[in-house]
Amino acid sequence: MIKDLQAEIARLKKENDVCILAHSYMSEDVCEVADFVGDSYALALKAKGVPQKKVVMCGVRFMAETVKMLAPEKTVILSNPQAGCPMAEQMDKEVIAEVKKMYPDYAVVAYINTTAELKTIADYCVTSSSAEKICRAIPEKNILFIPDINLGTYVRNRVPEKNFKLLSGGCPTHARIERADAEEAKRLHPEALFLVHPECRPEVTELADYVGSTKGIMDFAKNSGNREFIIGTENSIVQHLGFCCPEKKFYPLSKNLICPNMKLTTLPDVYACVAGAGGEAISLDEKTRLAAVKCIERMIVLGG
Ligand code: 13P
Ligand code: SF4
Repeated sequence: MIKDLQAEIARLKKENDVCILAHSYMSEDVCEVADFVGDSYALALKAKGVPQKKVVMCGVRFMAETVKMLAPEKTVILSNPQAGCPMAEQMDKEVIAEVKKMYPDYAVVAYINTTAELKTIADYCVTSSSAEKICRAIPEKNILFIPDINLGTYVRNRVPEKNFKLLSGGCPTHARIERADAEEAKRLHPEALFLVHPECRPEVTELADYVGSTKGIMDFAKNSGNREFIIGTENSIVQHLGFCCPEKKFYPLSKNLICPNMKLTTLPDVYACVAGAGGEAISLDEKTRLAAVKCIERMIVLGG
């Protein structure tokens, strides 16, 4: 049944000139039908060069908006219209505009997990895999980092030569994990290396053997000589790594590390999108798009 639906999706993709992009938090059956699977940074890079005229973004809304900003001539479909990212919607433009007035000599560095609207007042955009590099590379010494306080704290500690102001936003899924969860996982699996996403709290990341994006975590686990790993990010990564490296063992840091928004997209949703009968076509007014895309383009130049 899953295989039949996947075969039908593959046929319709060709027939309707569709490219499927999937974030690595998607389930295995969805990743298998994608043309490209990656973290937020890799997906943004990919969006620019997609040859097909229609892109189905299997992920959350800000990811589909990023594709639309970079490829406005394409039809961009968000796989499930309900799939938002709570962190992306935590701060609005008016509030950040007021904060900017309080710190006029600070550059606004926005995590890509923000709405298109909020990106219009950001100077630079970053992802979890590029934040440290970009904060180091920009000419400004003072950085107002929005919205994730945990990623911001992680970067601030790694880039001590810059001054950071942080606001208290974050990912409800990653921020739910406490130091005691990490200590318990390490006690249960003493031979395992502990790999963590920087959206986790500092008291969790400080116990990690490796801190990085979803792609970073997957690459680290694949290339490591170690055979056991505790995975401190969304639990789909545990599943994908199990398929990639069946000879290794992967343990979820917590059974609560499940993003309800990323879990919304199902294989039948993807089928409906490629058949032209599902998802949501993203539209951005040109003024917002032009203002928001600048910080993403700077990210691509600085991120390499
Ligand atoms: P990545 O930068 O690893 O893709 O993370 C995106 C995200 O939403 C993590 O919660
Ligand atoms: Fe947003 Fe967190 Fe889900 Fe990532 S895991 S999409 S940051 S809610």
